[in-house]
Amino acid sequence: MIKIAVAKGDGIGPEIMDATLSIFKAAGVPLEYQLVDMGKWVFDQGHPTGMTPEAKETIEKLGILFKGPMETPKGKGVKSINVTARKTWNTYANKRTFQTLHGVDTVFSKAGIPIDITVVRENIEDTYGGIEHMLTHDVALSRRFITRPGSMQVIKYAFEMARQKGARRITCGHKANIMKITDGLFLECFYEVARQYPELQADDVIVDDLCMKMVTRPDLFDVVVLTNLQGDIVSDLCAGLVGGLGFAPSANVGDHISIFEAVHGTAPDITGKNVANPTALLLSGIGMLRHLGLLESAANIENALLYTLEQGVHTGDFGDKSKPSVSTTEFAQAIISNLGQVPHHNPKPMLSDQPASCTVMTLEENPMLVSEETEDEKIVGVDMFIESDGQPDYIAAKCQRHGGVKFNLITISNRGTQVWPTGSKFTNLINQYRVRFESINLEGLNQQDVIGLYVSLSGDFKICSLELLNMWGDKKAYSLAQGQ
Ligand code: NAI
Repeated sequence: MIKIAVAKGDGIGPEIMDATLSIFKAAGVPLEYQLVDMGKWVFDQGHPTGMTPEAKETIEKLGILFKGPMETPKGKGVKSINVTARKTWNTYANKRTFQTLHGVDTVFSKAGIPIDITVVRENIEDTYGGIEHMLTHDVALSRRFITRPGSMQVIKYAFEMARQKGARRITCGHKANIMKITDGLFLECFYEVARQYPELQADDVIVDDLCMKMVTRPDLFDVVVLTNLQGDIVSDLCAGLVGGLGFAPSANVGDHISIFEAVHGTAPDITGKNVANPTALLLSGIGMLRHLGLLESAANIENALLYTLEQGVHTGDFGDKSKPSVSTTEFAQAIISNLGQVPHHNPKPMLSDQPASCTVMTLEENPMLVSEETEDEKIVGVDMFIESDGQPDYIAAKCQRHGGVKFNLITISNRGTQVWPTGSKFTNLINQYRVRFESINLEGLNQQDVIGLYVSLSGDFKICSLELLNMWGDKKAYSLAQGQ
């Protein structure tokens, strides 16, 4: 028996989790469940993370969490328990599988276009750090972190998963044409890893084009890997292609701890009515069984589910409306009575179980992920973000006086658009400028030089924020302003 942690969740969570576990039980799945306290009601009891210390300890000991959806209490200061769990335990790869299901009508199933797309979304970084500040009353800033080690983790996972799945194509979705440094880094990592997988066709598509192509020719895609926010949007788009959120399973995979859950939320509008569709959670559970090496149980249950859908059995959210819908428990019961049946479409091979060892390593300290530095690094300037409602020429005249013998004033931009030394009077201004100083001849500076400039400049302006300008070797590690 493999022991896993189970959190039933809020809203429809307990209804769909009970339905799923009843199917597992009938199929004789060799799992033992330890229920843990997580969710809105745990927040309400005064635990600020939405889970009890005992729940945290159990999940870290067992390494696998099977969870129902959880509500994030409204109001500032409370972070989503779902996001916190994924980030805290470094489940860096969010894998979501979207397949044509016979019995679930969509425009593509009706047109005979098969869909089998796996989206791997980076799960830790990007704007999901939630590092946000108001720089002035008018200006909000969000910091978007994309890191080399974080990108490498998720991209390596995606390639390895694609190889094991027998995929033919792996695509990186990105916006590196605009976010040249952040998405550029993700894309660079993608092609670096691709070199180790010559059997896979690796390519990249700009994310807006990707969305357009996915809704016109979804059959062309196989495995798609993206950064966090873009991956979030693209995976919901894919859920729509195969029939909606009721059919979208999700695995949050890390090196030590993995979390399996449906993509959808707590569905407060249908809670307690015994009408929710348990398919997405069941598919997530089937993914978990495969992750644990319980391949026979996974195939047995998936075949029964596919067979049941082919029979036209459906909950109220999908299927043939001329046939009466069944309740959550009746749907689960139908699957149970179909255990042992083989569907006509996409039957899953009954591979024998290869149970994975589930001992979670205990960690003495936090893993530190650092890439090897190969090039010399030097500070060659600073971007000062200042508050002012003055015109660009006025700002430039003031700033030039502070450059001293070490700094040249290079450019001034407003919302990323250059307004000095050249610009247009038609550019609307906001009361917050980015003023770029570089060292004379890009000579190396030290932090004290920057602090000296900061102190001097602060005599004239409120400095909201600053960013050092670095060079690695002869490469500038910062972007140019638009128009520069
Ligand atoms: P939702 O996914 O709960 O509901 C959206 C719509 O889809 C509703 O009409 C709902 O009835 C329907 N729906 C969802 N799951 C269904 C199912 N299994 N069967 C039939 N119909 C289903 O999204 P919403 O309303 O935006 O969020 C509600 C709560 O869920 C929020 O507190 C949110 O924070 C939380 N949430 C939690 C997630 C998680 O635990 N991973 C993910 C998304 C939202």
